[in-house]
Amino acid sequence: DKTMDSSLFFNQEDHGNIPEQFIWSKDQDDSHTTIEVLDAPIVDLQDFFKHDKKATLHAANLVKKSCLSHGFFQVVNHGIDPSLVAMADEYGRAFFKLPITEKMKYKKKEGSVVGFASAHANRFSKKLPWKEMLSFEYHENGPNEAAVDFFNSVSSRQLKETGLIYQKYCKSMKKLALKIFELLEISLDVDGHKYYKELFEDCISIMRCNYYPRCNQPNLTNGVGPHCDPTTITILYQDEVGGLEVFFDNKWKSVPPHPNALVINIGDTFQALSNGKYRSCLHRVMVNSYKPRLSLAFFVCPRGDKVLKPPQKLVEKDGGREYPDFKWEEFLYFTQNHYRVDEDTLEQFT
Ligand code: SIN
Ligand code: FE2
Repeated sequence: DKTMDSSLFFNQEDHGNIPEQFIWSKDQDDSHTTIEVLDAPIVDLQDFFKHDKKATLHAANLVKKSCLSHGFFQVVNHGIDPSLVAMADEYGRAFFKLPITEKMKYKKKEGSVVGFASAHANRFSKKLPWKEMLSFEYHENGPNEAAVDFFNSVSSRQLKETGLIYQKYCKSMKKLALKIFELLEISLDVDGHKYYKELFEDCISIMRCNYYPRCNQPNLTNGVGPHCDPTTITILYQDEVGGLEVFFDNKWKSVPPHPNALVINIGDTFQALSNGKYRSCLHRVMVNSYKPRLSLAFFVCPRGDKVLKPPQKLVEKDGGREYPDFKWEEFLYFTQNHYRVDEDTLEQFT
């Protein structure tokens, strides 16, 4: 079992030689240490929240420009309590520091997106990513609070606290996501209908904590290999280490951490919902030999059974549809089972 092997491997102090499953390319260049920075604009949300017209227009223009080209922007003054983000960081890190036997109690089951996984061969590639991750669902529907339930499923006082913190964190992320959908709607010039906001009010999102251990041969491996997010939007917190890269203009460009900013990126589903206007862009994560990295990704997913299509006003303006109707449950199934990004994928993008 590859999952078990790599979990044990990550828990060794000295990584020695990199096992074959982690080697993506024997001659992977190390140019990422000096690569260009992606123009992922910093969008200040403070005055948009106050319904200031001029500030809203300015924010919408920044969003539009970046989404038309690569789909990555960053938000500051996003309304999420910095101490809550710091707690999510602290408790996320603490989880990955637990003994492997503890973490394995939360092990992801075959075919599930929820649970702990260490460097498993995932849907994106045959190769193993240099990371551990913990994923769980978040929704506000019904009596159960999904994030808390997940952590309560294996009894441990310490992790119950983790569950409560992540419940709060996800609730804030969901609230922010709805505001971002409003801004996306304005940026597409189809505002006034709150179409996206309504579509995602009952969303079932996935929260994923990523931990990238140090690697003594980082040029051979990938924290996450090249992929596009299948979801609508991703709200990403990254710690101060860096390593996220986006393939744009025929080259890899970095998205260095910006203090207190959250990175937003467009996924495949929103590309379809924007009638193909906004780009879901290929990205990856590089690891390094000096410091582990933590990131927290909140993936906003529509409810599985909803029919997804762009707003009618946009279709009229564009004079037609770019993609057919689809449902998230069908698309997710497709990405889990038929969608791979392997050695030759980059050639399709260049
Ligand atoms: C991902 O895109 O899957 C992870 C992003 C990150 O860790 O920065
Ligand atoms: Fe991603």
